[in-house]
Amino acid sequence: MFIAIEGIDGSGKSTVISRLRDRLVDRGFRVHVTSEPSQSPIGRLIRDWLLKQNANVAHPSVFALLFVADRVQHYYGEVKPMLDRGYLVISERYMESTLAYQGAMGLPMDWLIELHRFVPRPDLTIILDVPVNVAMSRLSSRRRLEVFEINRDFLERVRELLLRRALELNYPVINGERDVNAVVDEVFNIVIKHLGHRINP
Ligand code: TYD
Repeated sequence: MFIAIEGIDGSGKSTVISRLRDRLVDRGFRVHVTSEPSQSPIGRLIRDWLLKQNANVAHPSVFALLFVADRVQHYYGEVKPMLDRGYLVISERYMESTLAYQGAMGLPMDWLIELHRFVPRPDLTIILDVPVNVAMSRLSSRRRLEVFEINRDFLERVRELLLRRALELNYPVINGERDVNAVVDEVFNIVIKHLGHRINP
């Protein structure tokens, strides 16, 4: 099973994923955790070139094209081989990040979706949702505001787009503002339920 965890910067994705991994490993699953931008050469290019500067370094469409190219490479080069070996794969960010972030940069949603024609969909996408002010205060205490153009208005638009897609496509939305154990419990239960459906449809 391939799971994508999505959310705005500061929503707690990495903490939740690392706890989720531990719980799944305790249950006997083999788990591979990965993230985007990936470790592929395209992912590295994105990190080195685009994310360290401000967003004006390139036209927003360049971000979209590179993130999607990285995603195809990430899927076929890393995700699929691990799935084939029987791992449960969890990715921090996937398709919804491009729809929301590059959508928030002003690119049309139908074009962004079209770019994903050759991108396999995850079996389960979970949105970790926190209000922007909570996310921003977590980020500033982590001295990580240097990642590109993260400002309040932009993150508000990203959050809105994530929630809109979640509503359309029935993605579970988890309130990430609570105690981390409560958040992890809820995500864990959704994953186990989903695995159950796949084993006994
Ligand atoms: P992030 O998850 O914050 O990486 P890290 O924690 O390793 O620094 O991702 C970096 C930024 O890239 C983040 O602000 C979201 C943005 N991003 C997009 O704009 N589009 C995408 O498709 C992806 C995957 C990320």
